[in-house]
Amino acid sequence: MKTTDLPKTVTVVAHPLVLHKLSLMRDKKTPSAVFRQLLREISLLLAYEVARDLPMTTQTIETPLAEMEAPILKGKKLVIVSILRAGNGLLEGMLDLMPSARVGHIGLYRDPKTLQPVEYYMKVPEDIGERRVIVVDPMLATGNSVCAAIRRLKEKGAKDLRLVCLLSAPEGIRHVTEEHPDVPIYTAAIDSHLNDHGYIVPGLGDAGDRMFGTK
Ligand code: URA
Repeated sequence: MKTTDLPKTVTVVAHPLVLHKLSLMRDKKTPSAVFRQLLREISLLLAYEVARDLPMTTQTIETPLAEMEAPILKGKKLVIVSILRAGNGLLEGMLDLMPSARVGHIGLYRDPKTLQPVEYYMKVPEDIGERRVIVVDPMLATGNSVCAAIRRLKEKGAKDLRLVCLLSAPEGIRHVTEEHPDVPIYTAAIDSHLNDHGYIVPGLGDAGDRMFGTK
């Protein structure tokens, strides 16, 4: 997918630090502990980007030299929703930067035959409709899980959503932008395609397995 073909709602955070760390993560020789640390570091940089348009106000403060109207966050209520289990790898770094955000979880697994998502857990704040919702999942592959998660969050009242992924496939980008054109996507890179098993190529393998050493 050429950058010129990208829908306006997609932001590729192609920062040198992000791309360097992502290349280290892709390497199959990278051990789980290093993989998790790199994901945490990249998530800080993705959080920085997704928070770029948070509303601001000012507050009068006194520096040692003068009084000033200082810019501060307007106090937009946030919730970060992690799609289990790999979403938790992005969650930690996001919380480092936005420590007051609430956290929701959605448990979905991919049926290996149909590649369709099956929900097994969901817990989100009751006032989700009043919050900006940042959905996190490292791998946007078919987009089936992410679209199902966003659908469920909208059913719960969510109106202001953003999606943050580490790595995306063109198929996933297309699926989300078609089904949820109101949801901006932030991703570090868009790879070539999906293979027959729904894995992103060249990708980095199964993010959950790489994080937790389960394979
Ligand atoms: N989920 C993963 O963890 N990796 C992929 O390549 C696709 C989906």
